[in-house]
Amino acid sequence: MNRRNLLKMAGGAAATLAARDAAAQERTARAVRGLPSPKIKDVQVIQTAPAGLRLPVVKILTDQDGLYGYGCACFTQRADLVVPAVERYLRPLLIGKSADRIDDLWQAMYNSSYWRNGPVLNNAISGVDQALWDIKGRQASLPVYQLLGGKVREAADCYAHASGGEIQECVDQAKQWMERGFRHVRVQVGVPGMAGYGAGTRGAATAAKALHSGQVFEPAAYIRRALKLFEECRKQLGDDIELCHDVHERITPTQAVQMCKDVEKFKLFFFEDPLSPEDIAWFRLIRNACTTPIAMGELFNSPHEWSPLISERLIDFMRMHVSQMGGLTPARKVAIMGEHYGVRTAWHGPGDVSPIGHMANVTLDVVSYNFGVQEYSPFNERLQEVFDGCPEQKDGYLWVSEKPGWGIEVNEAAAKKYPFGGNDRGERGRLNGGWGEVRKRDGQIIKQ
Ligand code: CO
Repeated sequence: MNRRNLLKMAGGAAATLAARDAAAQERTARAVRGLPSPKIKDVQVIQTAPAGLRLPVVKILTDQDGLYGYGCACFTQRADLVVPAVERYLRPLLIGKSADRIDDLWQAMYNSSYWRNGPVLNNAISGVDQALWDIKGRQASLPVYQLLGGKVREAADCYAHASGGEIQECVDQAKQWMERGFRHVRVQVGVPGMAGYGAGTRGAATAAKALHSGQVFEPAAYIRRALKLFEECRKQLGDDIELCHDVHERITPTQAVQMCKDVEKFKLFFFEDPLSPEDIAWFRLIRNACTTPIAMGELFNSPHEWSPLISERLIDFMRMHVSQMGGLTPARKVAIMGEHYGVRTAWHGPGDVSPIGHMANVTLDVVSYNFGVQEYSPFNERLQEVFDGCPEQKDGYLWVSEKPGWGIEVNEAAAKKYPFGGNDRGERGRLNGGWGEVRKRDGQIIKQ
């Protein structure tokens, strides 16, 4: 073979290699839709209150036509403060950045204020974080759960709220949920003449005597009433229904230990917030005293609060409000941490979470091996008008969307019909969306 032929052969091999490279590159480009990394073009906040509760939702637009995403930033009690936190502080930090690097942007936002882990800033970060996950899903034409490794269950078993001023009213509501297929129900009952959590305040005619004219709450009266409720629930509803209850941190730490012991015989699915975040050291005493499963966490902002409870196995269910902790990114990390310690998830899911946030919850539910239960609150017609594609509930299961991203489109014209403040009249309006004051008979204010 002469030199000329040898060169010709080598040239041929190089050409084959180049062709193979080109083909591989083309396949990769096809797999990622051939799009360059999207850059953040604008960050906006949609302010809407379709069901009366104020729901700030972040919208991120990219430089790619039609590629955008939504994220839940719902701190309903101070919703109007989340708006400038996004617009004045996060927006300038984010414009022009690549939307691809979610964790990197999360760390940049989190550290940008130096002082961190507060509800306003965490919710603002969550709005951006979840919007970036939505964008990534839309870019890949996949629902977000697929980006997290896919489902480990078909749907999320959820619990509904049953309540009543009278015990029988609550039991009857629980029966109705059971007839609709629910296997888990949270039960709350009012206390005569007092403001009971989750069950409203009884009429003024029966108002408890107090040294003030506002709402009254006495821990001991509540405890006696709640214990009667559980007894009646087991009598009338049987043993097959899983019962949950929320104390809402309204009792003293010793009362909490005692109550956890007293409810042990009713075999609750979980007993929520027996202690406030200020009293978490008392969880050790509850653990040593009984086996009542404890749910905790909706008021937590920071890893410093939940990490010791998980690593010391002092709680059974983590109940953080996903936007309050900073979004899907930190929630996924702590869910995996919980898996290693046998602590299950029960993400906060009442009406002050937007449907985008509920979809983030159910996404975590279907991808997390250590899922426990999901709190459910129905989406009324107005919510469905604004948020097209809310998670669907059937027979007590919540289903994640199969559409790209969160699978939800926000109807911004409809959102404008329900502005902030529209339903914040009277006491709620005066408190800027917050709850009214509740005091003991002697006038001392209680945690709620
Ligand atoms: Co709660």
